[in-house]
Amino acid sequence: MNVLVTGGAGYIGSHTVVELLRSGHEVVVVDDLSNAKIEVIDRIKEITGKRLHFYWIDCADKEKLWDIFRNHSVDAVIHFAGFKAVGESVQKPLQYYRNNLDSTMTLLEVMEEFGCKKLVFSSSATVYGPNNPHPYKEDMPAIQSSSPYGWTKVMIERILTDYVTAHPDFCAILLRYFNPIGAHESGLLGDDPNGIPNNLMPFIGRVAAGKLEKLTIFGGDYDTPDGTCQRDYLHVVDLAVGHLKALEYAAKHEGVEAINLGTGNGISVLELVTAFEKVNNMKLPYVIGPRRDGDLPAFWADATKAKELLGWEATHTVEDMCRSSWNFAKNAST
Ligand code: UFG
Repeated sequence: MNVLVTGGAGYIGSHTVVELLRSGHEVVVVDDLSNAKIEVIDRIKEITGKRLHFYWIDCADKEKLWDIFRNHSVDAVIHFAGFKAVGESVQKPLQYYRNNLDSTMTLLEVMEEFGCKKLVFSSSATVYGPNNPHPYKEDMPAIQSSSPYGWTKVMIERILTDYVTAHPDFCAILLRYFNPIGAHESGLLGDDPNGIPNNLMPFIGRVAAGKLEKLTIFGGDYDTPDGTCQRDYLHVVDLAVGHLKALEYAAKHEGVEAINLGTGNGISVLELVTAFEKVNNMKLPYVIGPRRDGDLPAFWADATKAKELLGWEATHTVEDMCRSSWNFAKNAST
């Protein structure tokens, strides 16, 4: 298939592009490089030995997006492009709503004009909000979030659902990710955010590399086995393969499907830190600090739907995730 990947130079996007190219798909990447580096495109080529088309554009730019659809006959789209920093979204809500919603609606309009009817959307476990019990299942209410970033995911899921109601021959797969960590085995691709990382694993990577002094674990008094928060961490390469499976499913189906991509296991912050220390044979300086606003104590996925519908399940261990994260972080530029 000819697959357009928006945000394809980003962390999850780049790993997904590698899997697409390896499976023989033609790939067109659009990315505005607002939170990604241009070198990533060369690294994808280096890893796969394949060519790809890259356009440095904002996918809310309708004319430029239209030109891309005119030049490539796009069969399906995987839509990653969007701002994703939870804390920043609280400070800059308008920017988040404008960017994330505009890019999606522009994309849908252009897809409609060109008769492209297959879309895989990068959603998040954040749509389950604070009130559902875990493990989260796809049929639970997914109508509330705790940050403007999270609300953009809820809203886009709604927009896509309404769009499919009006266009029943369209297929939209809403992939609800849990906590992707890890990096490509080559050490060439990984999570390398601009500025001080908000997420746990890139922060750990910079502490391990001596670029940040110590990790602060946010809260040690939660009602969890060791007092620290539990999350469902999954390897980014497993997540990338999940996109490939979702694309193959979308190619043969119509309608809208929300699907969790997680391992189904909860791991605590302390357990992750300990696993990182053990597999990489090092000590990580850390302190237990106060809780971070908005953090939920614990959540993980019920991953049965992904297995039943897509034939997908996570195969990498926590040790694989910690080893590959460090293999990338020790050589990362920032
Ligand atoms: N944490 C620390 N110290 C840090 C960073 C994080 O202790 O320096 C802890 C957090 O408190 C949390 C866990 O590590 O318990 C994971 O935090 P992340 O920031 O890595 O991930 P979150 O679970 O907060 O956020 C993730 C995604 C969001 C998504 C959210 C809800 O990054 O995109 O899950 O699904 F919205």
